[in-house]
Amino acid sequence: MAHRWKNTLTDNDVTPERVFLNRRQIIGAAAAGLALSGLGGRAQAETLEPTGWDDITSYNNYYEFGTGKGDPATNAHKLTVEPWNVRIDGLVDRPGDYAFEDILNKMTIEERLYRLRCVEAWSMVVPWNGFELADLLAMVVVQGGAKYVAFETALRPDEMPGVHRPVIEWPYVEGLRLDEAMHPLTIMATGIYGRDIPNQNGAPLRLVVPWKYGFKSIKSVVRITLTDTMPPTTWNKSNAREYGFYSNVNPQVDHPRWSQASERVVGTGLFARRQPTLMFNGYGEDVAGLYAGMDLAKHF
Ligand code: MTE
Repeated sequence: MAHRWKNTLTDNDVTPERVFLNRRQIIGAAAAGLALSGLGGRAQAETLEPTGWDDITSYNNYYEFGTGKGDPATNAHKLTVEPWNVRIDGLVDRPGDYAFEDILNKMTIEERLYRLRCVEAWSMVVPWNGFELADLLAMVVVQGGAKYVAFETALRPDEMPGVHRPVIEWPYVEGLRLDEAMHPLTIMATGIYGRDIPNQNGAPLRLVVPWKYGFKSIKSVVRITLTDTMPPTTWNKSNAREYGFYSNVNPQVDHPRWSQASERVVGTGLFARRQPTLMFNGYGEDVAGLYAGMDLAKHF
């Protein structure tokens, strides 16, 4: 089935899997390399060369498993992802606890591949598998009064060592405006590079919104609530001055502590190529209409 958005990306654009899985080591090596000269920097990078899938996913942001970049890799195996239920409630005609397997079966679609640009401080193109959030919302029948969608991550103190410390307010929560949630570029990802998502990356089901910064991608979702009021989001609650509700990729609006005008490209070597960050991460043609007439410096 064709995508309902313009896709110009091909396999050639995809960030190599090895680079994706090890991007934070590579990023770390690049940062360390800046302090070293020539050979020293290269030698440093070589010692950090990845060796395979087991080695992967050693650097993630998933605070439920600890705030250290290596903590999720060490601890995320404790997360039981089978069975998995997602509660869908609020302003819907068919609220309920849906088994993950049933959700997958009801999405009457063959597995779709989404090659999407993603940007944190670095940009990359990631091949996700999954389904459109809009299809899931259609299944539960959204009521007329709904304006927003709230998301919640599992909170399991027995399995998640990080939640014993109040580094953020638990559970991790996120939100989208309903029209953003219904956009065909907004997906619930279940796979990555043709495999199931590893626990540390948000198994079995995580949000991906490619025109927004990476922290909007809430992992291991257990609850989706349709509401008429703007829901709280974890990073906005912890630092409202730095993180707004929308968090759209926007080169014109700097984060209070750094410029967001350009980005480094993952996998382009120790002294990585910088490229100008594109409005809405390059998806402006598809999504700019959602924000027509809004002051995006105010609604960041
Ligand atoms: N979701 C939960 N539940 N907990 C988290 O700590 N971190 C966010 C986001 N989703 C986070 C989360 C942040 S800050 C980022 S950058 C991305 O996940 C990182 O996803 P990745 O590890 O797959 O790259």
